[in-house]
Amino acid sequence: MMLGVMMAVVVVTGIVGALHPSSNVEVVDALTLHLQGEFVESNLGTAIEPNGSVTVRIVAEQYDFVPRCVRVPAATPVKFRLTSADVVHGFLLPNTNVNTMVVPGFVAEVRTSFATPGEYAMPCHEFCGLGHQAMWAHVSVVPKDQFASVTPVERVSCVPK
Ligand code: CUA
Repeated sequence: MMLGVMMAVVVVTGIVGALHPSSNVEVVDALTLHLQGEFVESNLGTAIEPNGSVTVRIVAEQYDFVPRCVRVPAATPVKFRLTSADVVHGFLLPNTNVNTMVVPGFVAEVRTSFATPGEYAMPCHEFCGLGHQAMWAHVSVVPKDQFASVTPVERVSCVPK
């Protein structure tokens, strides 16, 4: 009986520990990114939150960011959430505080805001293979009052308006 209780405690604490890793490290299954959860393709790009801020979800993979271009409003809190489908990539927006590693199995989260409209080139800055040099994407920052009229398709493709 006692042994059974101890076994149960070990199993339960093990499961709880696995479900709630210490610190705020967020894990995600890199092998099923496209099948389920936050990073399915239809959920990528810029989403508008109830409080008016935006969340941008991007998957990095050899040798692309998906989507390649995201549109966000200026003067608005922007939260980037990224993960990798394969190897370690890097996400860097020059002249901003955005600079993070994108590691498979984990979610990288960076918060920023863009004071003025403009185009930001987005190079992968972690060597990730032969195509690394060509791994670029863009963040297009549009005036806040114009963002409401940007359609969901335009938010992830940056097709000129
Ligand atoms: Cu991806 Cu370098």
